[in-house]
Amino acid sequence: MNLLLQYLVFLIFSSVEKIFFMSKENSLKVKFYNGENIPLELHKVRIVQKLNLVPIERRLEALHEGGFNTFRLSTKDVFLDMLTDSGTNAMSDMQLSAMMHADDAYAGSQSFFRLQKAVEDVLKKKYLLPVHQGRAAENILALAYIKKKGDLIPMNYHFTTALAHITQYGGRIVELLYDEAYNISSSHPFKGNMNVEKLEEVIRETGVENIPFIRMEASTNLIGGQPFSIQNMRDVRKITDKYGIRLVLDASLLGENAYLILQRESEFENASMADVIAIMTGLADIVYFSARKLSSSRGGGICTDDAAIYRELEALVPLFEGFLTYGGISVREIEAMAVGLYETLDETMISQSPQYIAYLVNALTSQGVPMVTPPGVLGAHVDAMRVCAHIPQTQYPAGSLAAAFYLVSGIRGMERGSISNQRDEEGNETYADMELLRLAVPRRVFTLSQIKYVEDRMVWLNENRLLIGGLKFVYEPPVLRFFMGGLAPVSDWPEKLIAKFKADFGDSL
Ligand SMILES: Cc1ncc(COP(=O)(O)O)c(C=O)c1O
Repeated sequence: MNLLLQYLVFLIFSSVEKIFFMSKENSLKVKFYNGENIPLELHKVRIVQKLNLVPIERRLEALHEGGFNTFRLSTKDVFLDMLTDSGTNAMSDMQLSAMMHADDAYAGSQSFFRLQKAVEDVLKKKYLLPVHQGRAAENILALAYIKKKGDLIPMNYHFTTALAHITQYGGRIVELLYDEAYNISSSHPFKGNMNVEKLEEVIRETGVENIPFIRMEASTNLIGGQPFSIQNMRDVRKITDKYGIRLVLDASLLGENAYLILQRESEFENASMADVIAIMTGLADIVYFSARKLSSSRGGGICTDDAAIYRELEALVPLFEGFLTYGGISVREIEAMAVGLYETLDETMISQSPQYIAYLVNALTSQGVPMVTPPGVLGAHVDAMRVCAHIPQTQYPAGSLAAAFYLVSGIRGMERGSISNQRDEEGNETYADMELLRLAVPRRVFTLSQIKYVEDRMVWLNENRLLIGGLKFVYEPPVLRFFMGGLAPVSDWPEKLIAKFKADFGDSL
């Protein structure tokens, strides 16, 4: 029995490793005879889930029940769920089969050792601390390293949960992007680059002793899933070496950042995903990730090659997460994480979502919808500041657009604007640099006709944008308010939008 099990495990992992080594050959570039440039899926669908598209009247009721906050919608009322890619990417047959041979044990599980091997093979880090999701890693890093009030964490840009954990322990952040990153319509290939000149200035002004670490986020989420280049990371590393400051890489969207490096950074045009990922992780002292994104599973991890760092963080895992070989998640998910990490090296898999995003962004841009460009990863981002230029930031244009888009399409996107920001220490609003509606495109989940439906409804809404009105808070939680906050429309704009929808679409859903 034992031998049979070992054989099965060998079979799964040897097939996964095959993908890992063959990924370059498999990334076929297929041309269509009719000249159309559309993404072609290199997978087939074997398990499906039925979807519902409820009538527009029910969608309005659902919005009222959910406080005009798409996080609070129930999926029974959602047609295409474009809220996030977190935990919603399709899993592979390899991942599902690996979950069946998980080794249930409180301590010393073989599943953990398989994950550790995947981390060594793919992320090239020796030590791994498993955690239940990305923000748990952020909690541990903030708790371990923010030692005094006012400690500063420079970063290319914040992510909501990273910021919340840093400020929770008395820290502050400073965002150091180049100006081009704030230019929504741009052709700059690496808007996620850290501004290295400003970084050095900040270090000199603040003092090394007040900077516990520098954080770089791959495929910078909140500015539209925009990558940084390896050259930029090398430049940052030179500075961290010069001043002796730890470099922390948020690798939650590492695969996509690496894929865009292969596409956009000439030095790496003939490199493999494995090479690029190894260079990126090799430049960081600590790599942490949300496996919900990185490996299409659940969980997360903190990895390092430095035994001293490992020792500093080790005790916090059993305190907050669980024993060091399961980190608060099921061993089944640990198996799926391990396989998912290997699959991250498969360009045909990792490119699927960015290619769909590029298709959608290009289609919408060509029909006049203002989008974040160049197309990034994770999702297509609509510039709500321009679509809803008539709605002041005090009435949350991105939240209003998210609610209006759900109303006219049944598609749930996510507000990434001022609602997602937290208030400052005095309780004042801090308005976001960008008001975006993010339409997430999880890996290998949607079909092209569904993407065309997204395009169709967004073009219609953009043409009827003046009917969209603002929102106001009626319930505002003190932390991460965007998750559970409740809002209401400032006027009867939803009813007017429905009337126009009915006039144009008749009895169509
Ligand atoms: C860049 C980035 N870092 C950290 C996190 C937090 O991960 P999790 O949702 O697993 O806690 C996310 C989640 O979306 C993310 O996008």
